[in-house]
Amino acid sequence: MTKIAIIGAGPCGLSMLRAFEQAEKKGEKIPEVVCFEKQADWGGLWNYSWRTGSDQYGDPVPNSMYRYLWSNGPKECLEFADYSFDEHFRKPIPSFPPRAVLYDYILGRVSKGNIKNKIKFNTKVTSTIYKNDKFEISYLDKTNDTTSKDNFDYVVVASGHFSVPFIPEYEGMSSFPGRILHSHDFRDAEEFRGKNVIVLGSSYSAEDIALQCHKYGANSITIGYRHNPMGFKWPKGMKEVHYLDRLDGKKAIFKDGTEQDADAIILCTGYLHHFPFIDESLRLKTRNRLYPPKLYKGVVWQDNHKLIYLGMQDQFHTFNMFDCQAWYARDVMMGKIKLPSDDEINNDINKWVAMEEKLENPDQMIDFQTEYTKELHEMSDYPKIDFELIRKHFKEWEHHKVEDILTYRNKSFSSPVTGSVGPIHHTPWSEAMDDSLKTFLNK
Ligand SMILES: Cc1cc2nc3c(=O)[nH]c(=O)nc-3n(C[C@H](O)[C@H](O)[C@H](O)COP(=O)(O)OP(=O)(O)OC[C@H]3O[C@@H](n4cnc5c(N)ncnc54)[C@H](O)[C@@H]3O)c2cc1C
Ligand SMILES: NC(=O)c1ccc[n+]([C@@H]2O[C@H](COP(=O)([O-])OP(=O)(O)OC[C@H]3O[C@@H](n4cnc5c(N)ncnc54)[C@H](OP(=O)(O)O)[C@@H]3O)[C@@H](O)[C@H]2O)c1
Repeated sequence: MTKIAIIGAGPCGLSMLRAFEQAEKKGEKIPEVVCFEKQADWGGLWNYSWRTGSDQYGDPVPNSMYRYLWSNGPKECLEFADYSFDEHFRKPIPSFPPRAVLYDYILGRVSKGNIKNKIKFNTKVTSTIYKNDKFEISYLDKTNDTTSKDNFDYVVVASGHFSVPFIPEYEGMSSFPGRILHSHDFRDAEEFRGKNVIVLGSSYSAEDIALQCHKYGANSITIGYRHNPMGFKWPKGMKEVHYLDRLDGKKAIFKDGTEQDADAIILCTGYLHHFPFIDESLRLKTRNRLYPPKLYKGVVWQDNHKLIYLGMQDQFHTFNMFDCQAWYARDVMMGKIKLPSDDEINNDINKWVAMEEKLENPDQMIDFQTEYTKELHEMSDYPKIDFELIRKHFKEWEHHKVEDILTYRNKSFSSPVTGSVGPIHHTPWSEAMDDSLKTFLNK
């Protein structure tokens, strides 16, 4: 029997498990599937942990999410086609839920069947090599500190790429008297109440962590961008300046001449695609981009079609794109989709990479990833979902952010699965301090 290993039980790994479950429900004979998850529970980044650094076994903590994190895009854009929000919550809910609510939704889809039994928890894949037409996987049972090996016909890498921080160094850091941390280790904005905070970066983490610090009472927030400013209309107490030049004692000196006394520096400088557990010849090497090269249809490793990577793209689309990838990958692994010749594969990858390199603005990037997802969607039996509506929602959301970065999360969108419209939340985001599921759902 064909044997498949899935590395990681975050949203991507769970999409893969769900795809096989759905095929089985239709009466198809599915391969043997084993999922390795190095944490004690499933959900990936959505499985919040207070820990930073390493866990009780000495293993680096993969979690990068923090308290009071709310969805930064409309939930309707990530909705599962086969499990709507209405089905899970039994009523329409607002469009920008906090982390605990999305976690509940992700797990709701996979909790009922037999999926959890296929996951080996507290089990870390330490090596993946290809020999004699099989993948040999070594894995560590963290609880018992024992290593084992097993052979598989296919490997699905679903280990995420927002867990290993990229940490640059600036002059003066070693003598800075305050705290320096990466967004990976940021857990609670309360820590920065009354402080002068420097945030470096100009992407989603910089935007959201700066806003969190503002919301929870930081005295001032100075954001240092490197290439392009985010350019939002920042509220009083926040400003965006050009690139940190150096630190001099507690003073941060920026390239545009701005000087700011600082108590803390938060590096929102992104993450590394880091796969030390995969043999170098099989290892994806890329920066965070919309179309990493060497992946056919964004998932099949060009040099060995039995190796699949899920969710390795920079992401506008998330959960339903992961599903489209997983459903497609399942059909490749089950022999229902035949891959074209090496030349065609190469041309297809080059076509997408070349298109990606010409993108100039968020609207074009949204179009690009929507086209990619739609193409995949058409290649499997993943249920009907309105990607044109999702495209429209993403563009509207971008414009809401430009209008007012403090209020975009108060807006409402319609479902691409059921058509129902999310009600306006009972409390505007900037005043909603309690992010529990109970309060959000008004239970
Ligand atoms: C701070 C932050 C906020 C975000 N907010 C949103 C949001 O609001 N909306 C949204 O749609 N997306 C958001 N994202 C994007 C996020 O990438 C996806 O939502 C999603 O979590 C990606 O799923 P994944 O399965 O690819 O990776 P992950 O969620 O990272 O899961 C990977 C899993 O693999 C496991 N693993 C890793 N290595 C090994 C190994 N060697 N052996 C065994 N197991 C391993 C990890 O323990 C983890 O459980 C956010 C990301 C970050 C960093
Ligand atoms: N739900 C939420 O609210 C929420 C919150 C946070 C994050 N997220 C998610 O988390 C994921 C990761 O986002 P991210 O912002 O951490 O990573 P990212 O999107 O990859 O952005 C990395 C940022 O780091 C900057 N950078 C890199 N090196 C730098 C240096 N040496 N000095 C200064 N800046 C540097 C980059 O700037 P350049 O452009 O100049 O290269 C870029 O702005 C995304 O999917 C996002 O949606 C969601």
